[in-house]
Amino acid sequence: MKAIKTGEEMLNQLDKIKSEAIVELDRATDTGALEAWRVKYLGKKSELNQVLRSLASLSIQDRKTVGAAANSLKDYLENIFKAREKAIKEAQIVAAALKETIDVTLPGRRPPVGHLHPIAQTIQEICEIFSSLGFQIVDGPEVELEYYNFDALNIPEGHPARDNMSSFWIDITDESGKRPMLLRTHNTCVSARVLASQKPPIRAVSPGKVYRYEASNATHTPMFHQLDGVAVDKNITMADLKGTLSEFARRFFGENRKVRFRCDFFPFVEPGVEMAIECAVCHGGGCRLCGNSGYIEILGAGMTHPEVLKKAGLDPAIYQSFAFGMGVDRLPMLRYGIDDLRLFFGSDLRFLRQF
Ligand code: DAH
Repeated sequence: MKAIKTGEEMLNQLDKIKSEAIVELDRATDTGALEAWRVKYLGKKSELNQVLRSLASLSIQDRKTVGAAANSLKDYLENIFKAREKAIKEAQIVAAALKETIDVTLPGRRPPVGHLHPIAQTIQEICEIFSSLGFQIVDGPEVELEYYNFDALNIPEGHPARDNMSSFWIDITDESGKRPMLLRTHNTCVSARVLASQKPPIRAVSPGKVYRYEASNATHTPMFHQLDGVAVDKNITMADLKGTLSEFARRFFGENRKVRFRCDFFPFVEPGVEMAIECAVCHGGGCRLCGNSGYIEILGAGMTHPEVLKKAGLDPAIYQSFAFGMGVDRLPMLRYGIDDLRLFFGSDLRFLRQF
């Protein structure tokens, strides 16, 4: 049996509980310790609860004072408990945030990006080569005047060369209202525009889309790409043409590929040539790819026809010029062994992602 306490003893006890509780609460730094503290000081079996329960043994006078003191201690302990609980929770959040460090050495996440189309890549590569040889890169309209596409290039109405380039005629006319327009059938019209608008010395290449009214198959599409080039200066000769184009082939195809020039006809050059490179598969021996010839044609070229220079306002007695035009699409076909031109224009990502 416990000895019955007096009111004064109980008040002392309450003081002691209070000071102990404050010290111990200070030491509780995690939720576990905090809960143990709550059980010890506010739980059913706490000393405070025992005091509250034994109030009945006191005189009425003492019961009032001790009861009031015990209840106010209870309120006080509950308040400091709540404040501590809040502080611990906040500290935990801060600690968790501090743990979340950023590893600056981790590689970043790449956003999905595409890349240039293989034809665009090829055009860029060709342009870089000609640019390093002093050629400017120029642009011209895809909907062209009949004049630049044909007449300026020594292909007058009725000339058979017009039939060879079946055209998409457009339902609009030029400024005079008399002459129809067409989708350019080659990029040589851009060279004709350059001749008419610039003063020699001129060196320019123009890459772009050209259009011919033809059915699609593995080697033909109604739209394809060309790059035309022209150089004008005093004393330009066939040697400049051969030197420039051989250097292009050497850089694009590699040191050891032979090039071959043979006579050819184009109305806007005289003399005209075609340039071929040694077949990569058979090295000149002859195979299926090169049709047993050992060589693959890649461009047409020649010394610009005096009539073409005259039409552009240039005096052929003073200025000479060479020009060339190549099909762009064949180059990546040869390089990657692609056997169907239509693949380039089908927008199938499974194909395009390979480049
Ligand atoms: N324009 C010609 C074609 O489409 C190619 C060509 C040949 C362009 C000779 C030229 C050239 O500039 O000199 O077939």
